[in-house]
Amino acid sequence: MVIAVDGPAASGKGTIARAVAERFGLPHMDTGLLYRAVALNLLQMGSELDSEFAATRACDISQIDFADPELKSETVGGIASRISVYPSVRAALLERQRGFAGQPGGGVLDGRDVGTVIAPDAEVKLFVTATAEVRAERRLAELQQRGMNAHYEDVLADIRARDERDEGRAAAPLRRAEDAHLLDTSEMSVDEAVAEAVRLVEGILKRG
Ligand code: C5P
Repeated sequence: MVIAVDGPAASGKGTIARAVAERFGLPHMDTGLLYRAVALNLLQMGSELDSEFAATRACDISQIDFADPELKSETVGGIASRISVYPSVRAALLERQRGFAGQPGGGVLDGRDVGTVIAPDAEVKLFVTATAEVRAERRLAELQQRGMNAHYEDVLADIRARDERDEGRAAAPLRRAEDAHLLDTSEMSVDEAVAEAVRLVEGILKRG
């Protein structure tokens, strides 16, 4: 079984995807981490950040340690959002994601284009969202928890900029697949959102 979990930055899709994977005993892939790995590679190579050529060269991420906490930083996330508009970068990461979705038994993948491009035949598709304000509050709390100094207005502006890039790009833009179930977590706690996602998946599986 393949479960696609898409949605904008800080919508809670990662937490939901991990919990759903655990609940149904499936492997999980955070596809955003691949784009972040390319971004970190580019940064470490000291290359230009707004060049498709340089970004494509940075797509060999075999040397990147996926446990490196730097992958989760705002800087790397911002660069990931910029390089993910390049079709050649998306193409370079496609096979790895399709391979994961196609493994025997399937898996849970979260990202922006899993239900639309990576695994359009996924048995279950969830589109997780929340208002930009709620997402900014969550991201701010997360940053503060990590001891980082951040301001709400800056975080909100960053979230909006990322939404615009993710939704506005020509290659695999962020959008809800027609057959994806919408899960608006704006007024839900983490536990409530996870419970709702599990309930949705169970409902879909029961209907066959
Ligand atoms: O989800 P996360 O914030 O880690 O993703 C980082 C960036 O990678 C996103 O802002 C998005 O632009 C890009 N991305 C993408 N397609 C995916 C996953 C992430 O374009 N499937």
